[in-house]
Amino acid sequence: MDLIIKNGTVVTSSDTFVGDVGIAGDKIVALGAHIEHPQAQILDARGKLVLPGCIDVHTHMQLPFMGNVTIDDFELGSQAAACGGVTCFVDFAIQAKGETLIEAIEKRRAVADGHVHVDYSLHAGITDPTDEVLASIPKVIEYGVPSFKLFMIYFKEGWMINDGALHAILLAAREHGALVGVHAENPFILDYNVDKFKKEGKLDMPWHGRARPNFVEAEAIRRAIFLTEQADSRLYIFHMSTKEGVQLVAEAKGRGVAVFAETGPHYLLLTEKCYETPDGLNYLAGPPLRKEEDNAALWRGLSTGAVQVLATDHCAFSRAQKMSGGGQDFTKVPNGLPGIETLLPLTYSEGVRKGRISLNQMVELLSANPAKLFGLHPHKGSLAPGADADVVLLDPEKTQTISPEVLHTKMDFNPFTGMKVTGWPVLTISRGRILWKDDQFQGDATWGRFVRRSYQGAEVGTEELVKA
Ligand code: URP
Ligand code: ZN
Ligand code: ZN
Repeated sequence: MDLIIKNGTVVTSSDTFVGDVGIAGDKIVALGAHIEHPQAQILDARGKLVLPGCIDVHTHMQLPFMGNVTIDDFELGSQAAACGGVTCFVDFAIQAKGETLIEAIEKRRAVADGHVHVDYSLHAGITDPTDEVLASIPKVIEYGVPSFKLFMIYFKEGWMINDGALHAILLAAREHGALVGVHAENPFILDYNVDKFKKEGKLDMPWHGRARPNFVEAEAIRRAIFLTEQADSRLYIFHMSTKEGVQLVAEAKGRGVAVFAETGPHYLLLTEKCYETPDGLNYLAGPPLRKEEDNAALWRGLSTGAVQVLATDHCAFSRAQKMSGGGQDFTKVPNGLPGIETLLPLTYSEGVRKGRISLNQMVELLSANPAKLFGLHPHKGSLAPGADADVVLLDPEKTQTISPEVLHTKMDFNPFTGMKVTGWPVLTISRGRILWKDDQFQGDATWGRFVRRSYQGAEVGTEELVKA
């Protein structure tokens, strides 16, 4: 054994106990009380929570989008991930017109590989669903990419797929064993509203949210669930933001439909009031921030199992980038918010400490469920012997006031600035290697590997999550 984490409060998705975690090479090899080995390095974790590394299944590092490229590249974004306790993230290979999905994946890997501090993987974003592309789905799954993102919006941007393609991809995913994820917003109502507001000169930031009221998301979620039910397939809803969404997903689960939903800290903790502030443009994202009643419904969804994943949609545009369209017109502001480094502390401080979710639920939402849903289980997402030694120590009493200065991304704005959290990641281990300790980052950007994902060999499938 090379490393023993001693006397910490070990938290799994089902258990909490004071004990030790033994690591040999890149794997966890023992879990329990009084683990000893004469040659092992000892890490004293007394008073700390010992958690499986978080898996953020929704990031956009150096993404070209709305005339800008997100400012966190793979290297910086993955450094921020490690400092925040995220040991694996899943980004996107979004297909360009005419490109094969494998070409899109390899193009993205050519940018990322060798420049990543923690392990990462990719979802395939399908934007050009030709017959050849649909026929290639088994090959993409075999490559190690068994999840897709389909944009039900972004019609004008050329990313939208229509309902026929969604139906066809749901069928292919059922046949070959993949998960279909959607960005659920109705593009035609959104574009109608945007055009109307433009004509009326309503271009201030609050109109961004008003162009996309809750039913714009709810309609698309309802349609995607209906099509999933008809195809007897499985559906994942990225960045769900509304109370209506929570209800639709809970009802579908009640009927036995395999539908899973993700939300993120900004939809739990911020509201549309942010758009009224002088910094309003910095909060523009799609879907938009909502109302307190939506925050509350999403928290309830997390605690009851209707919403099963917490992820960030880390999509970092600096102040200058947000201002690149002049700063007066919401349609010219690149959409997206940063979040990868604050995912764990916000979830712990606002979720667990405030009694909205339990400690074990936090591990489910941040590690176990993403691993199971996206084919990373049993290698990642748990502290079980045999799993990758991806481990985080969280000091439950360490307080921190969030600001760009205490974080490691290139961002000069953070949506949670000024928020005081209690509980902060103090040590992060990726496959047995310490990356973050004593406020020092010790990483190496050649360390992170592209992870080929698969549902084969998973001891636990996703069936148990359907009715959760
Ligand atoms: O505003 C967002 N979410 N930007 C990133 C692209 C997406 O749709 O996830
Ligand atoms: Zn999206
Ligand atoms: Zn996104």
